[in-house]
Amino acid sequence: MSRGRIVVTAELPGTVLDSLAEVGELWVPAEPAPLAAAELLAAVPGARAIVSTLNDRIGDEVADAAGSGLAIVANVAVGHDNLDVEALRSRGVAVTNAPGVLTEATADLAFGLLLSVTRRLGEGERLLRARRPWSFDLGFMLGTGLTGKRLGVVGLGRIGQAMARRALAFGMEVVYSGRRRAPLAVERELRATHLPFRQVLRTADVVTLHCPLTAQTHHLIDAAALADMKRSAFLINTTRGPVVDEAALADALTEGRLAGAGLDVFEHEPAVEPRLLGLDNVALSPHLGSATVETRTAMARLAADNVRAVLDGRPPLTPVS
Ligand code: GLV
Repeated sequence: MSRGRIVVTAELPGTVLDSLAEVGELWVPAEPAPLAAAELLAAVPGARAIVSTLNDRIGDEVADAAGSGLAIVANVAVGHDNLDVEALRSRGVAVTNAPGVLTEATADLAFGLLLSVTRRLGEGERLLRARRPWSFDLGFMLGTGLTGKRLGVVGLGRIGQAMARRALAFGMEVVYSGRRRAPLAVERELRATHLPFRQVLRTADVVTLHCPLTAQTHHLIDAAALADMKRSAFLINTTRGPVVDEAALADALTEGRLAGAGLDVFEHEPAVEPRLLGLDNVALSPHLGSATVETRTAMARLAADNVRAVLDGRPPLTPVS
């Protein structure tokens, strides 16, 4: 039996759409490109559920356009800074995200960026593709080794822990900062030491960001934070762009005050600070943290399961916490 209109703002695997179609009438965009705000507003009237991505900004305006039947917004992402969670909740709308299912894929990508920037993989590939002359030489394109170095994890949640686990396998020492201490069992497993944030910045050889984007973490890595880092250190960001002041980062990298950066996310996506594009000591990827077939399928399935649960009158499986 149909439980109403389900607006799906992006392409989802067919099997997941089938599962949603069993409980409601689907609206899906005609084009795979992100929906413009006006298109979303035009699509939602009468919606009982919205399956969203981080491209969609959803708060009072969208909820007003949807009307009082809106029961759930299911974000196909672990981050939910695109949603006004309080506004939605205060209207009785369930808000869910997709935690857990993208942990390993995101940590893989973060560690890939770390390897890419410390071992100069992108730079080496650019050299070859430019058909520039080269030969094996003992001093040619030397990078930075990881064994014995210190990884500073900012936010030792699921993804931060998965990153730390990878670092341990590479012989790195793990320190972390965060609002809360991790459980003792996690600290023991990762041999991770909790330090104040500034202490992490000052002592880590690689700082990797895994905190959510909130009002408190906006520009957490600003000019002052970058000045605290070692000149030989690397910064990895796979969480949300605005956690880093991108202009300040470009200044630090351009002026040689930081060894390099690996970035999957950007302050004004899809735009990238032009100075970063010109720097060889920056490894870049276009927001690919969770971009594997397996992970994106699991994320979409979890969002659909949340919608089904709520439209069936059951509690959501993964409400935003
Ligand atoms: C991706 O960035 C996510 O939050 O899932």
